[in-house]
Amino acid sequence: MCGIVAAITNGLDARASVLHGLKTLEYRGYDSAGMAVHTGDSKLAVRRKMGKIANLEAELASNALPESDQVIAHTRWATHGAPADRNAHPHTDDGGEIVVVHNGIIENYLDLRAELVADGHVFLSDTDTEVLANLIARHMRNGNGGIDLHTAVRTALTEVHGAYALVAMCATEPGTLVVARQDSPLIVGVGDAAHYAASDMPALLHLTRDFVALENGESAILHADKMQLCSASGDWIERETTLCDWTPEQAEKGGYPHFMLKEIEEQPDVLARTAFDRFHDTEGDVVFEDTFTLTDADLRALRRIRFMAMGTSSHSAMIGRWLLAEFAELPGETLNASEFLYSPILPENDTLTVIVSQSGETADSLRAMRELQKRGGRILGICNVQGSTLAREADDLILTHCGPEVGVASTKAFFGQVTALYLLAIRVGRARGVLSTERGLELLHDLRTLRPKLDSLFAPEAMAAVRQAAAFLATVPSCLFLGRGLQHPIALEGALKLKEISYIHAEGYPAGEMKHGPIALIDEHFPVVVLATPDRTYEKMISNIEEVRARSGKVIAVGVAGDQQVQNAADYFLPVPEVPPYLAPLVNVIPLQQLSYEVALALGRDIDQPRNLAKSVTVE
Ligand code: M6R
Repeated sequence: MCGIVAAITNGLDARASVLHGLKTLEYRGYDSAGMAVHTGDSKLAVRRKMGKIANLEAELASNALPESDQVIAHTRWATHGAPADRNAHPHTDDGGEIVVVHNGIIENYLDLRAELVADGHVFLSDTDTEVLANLIARHMRNGNGGIDLHTAVRTALTEVHGAYALVAMCATEPGTLVVARQDSPLIVGVGDAAHYAASDMPALLHLTRDFVALENGESAILHADKMQLCSASGDWIERETTLCDWTPEQAEKGGYPHFMLKEIEEQPDVLARTAFDRFHDTEGDVVFEDTFTLTDADLRALRRIRFMAMGTSSHSAMIGRWLLAEFAELPGETLNASEFLYSPILPENDTLTVIVSQSGETADSLRAMRELQKRGGRILGICNVQGSTLAREADDLILTHCGPEVGVASTKAFFGQVTALYLLAIRVGRARGVLSTERGLELLHDLRTLRPKLDSLFAPEAMAAVRQAAAFLATVPSCLFLGRGLQHPIALEGALKLKEISYIHAEGYPAGEMKHGPIALIDEHFPVVVLATPDRTYEKMISNIEEVRARSGKVIAVGVAGDQQVQNAADYFLPVPEVPPYLAPLVNVIPLQQLSYEVALALGRDIDQPRNLAKSVTVE
């Protein structure tokens, strides 16, 4: 939540490249945006505008900032203070000497603000960030000229409770940016005679692919030609850069009208990239990279597996729990990460916890991970972002290879997570002796042959069917999604996608629940989306369809192409290819993603940046 970009170069004007990076980060928040530059004559200049980055661009076109080789910028997801020009970042202290961009929440900002006001400081915004700027300025002034920006930032941060990633710049200290982080993400990009900082790597891919991730409590001084990294305890430390394997093109729309559509269509490639190189084609097993250190003995010793995640990732976690039970005979549970802290459940020594997160920066999931680690629990992260906090702090890691996901609605990341969970189930099943080599080989074969089958989901007939159903769905205020067994998480995911980007109320239910309450909603105007592909729940799903029809409800059914029974019973039929039942989630989720996309398109919604949301939820 909130996106930060900053650059310091050796004389090169950095305004355009910072703005480009900021646009790439707009998925992190779009309530307001702003930019500040050092003007080179011991002055700072700031422009800020409520609303999307386009508004800031318009402001910069009519009221340009001077050229500068020291630029910081921010796109905001409002926490403290309503979206407004005056609450937009960057924020300066009341003397205009310090300027700060910040992502996070300063929990004790009201107390600090009261102290600063008593000291004579004047505030112009309702934000916690303006408190930071003034706090830093106060320390610099109190230093009788002896305190530099980095020392002042570190001192100010000792008074702060909460989460932050920040970049600070000082009018009287040209050639320096100071960055710091605690519980909010921040990475430093190392360029050719330039250093950069950002909340996420995609913002800097057009400038560099060499990154250093800051750990909690660390800070750094950035100059054009060097970076000085400071540990939480104040020691200067060295850290190698990590090469990011994402390309700048992956973070661009590439001719698509929306990132979401591009990302939906990338899913067959995600399957290949996440799975195929990990197949052990003679052993019927899976080989993970050395970030996965769980040995066969460790896996055999497990008695339980716990999955934790938020949002879409929690739906893949539900599928993971099912797969581990099915293929590795390992019982488990799925918990909402934000609820875990209130749950009485304690980790047992023989329990593995899997945390699933696209970004690896979701505050609720990270908090749950750290709490469990404190209690001695072992964490396996499943994550899409190399170098993210989850990727660095989990005890073991499986990276999904989806490439950057930019659309706020998660699509290909879900697909990559479920793919990784299939691999995990095979690995654990093989290690525990539950799966034979032959069965392992069959499962790998099923995954490999899934890819060409996915093509039919993007064929013109399939898309026409989706658009027809979408035209109807766009006219209703509310609907239900029903699925049983492995399709229940897909029903939840379909409902989440629809409400998230179209703002139509949607609920996902286990289909068996329908008769226990939701059925009261059904009348001739009410649509029910059912997942009715062949598996052991098929007959019961057919009964559910009939129960909806008996009450004149409208049925949108996902069924196997050519299944006349489902097709005839449905008002709208979304055909999918036939696959082994355990792979159906990967197939059935796609028409539901397409359906939400088409509904949102028909309603003229802001598909990639739906209202009130941010891609990466870095506050609890
Ligand atoms: O980055 P994460 O996977 O941890 O994010 C979790 C949720 O915030 C995320 O999946 C959210 O629900 C999606 N925007 C839904 O499309």
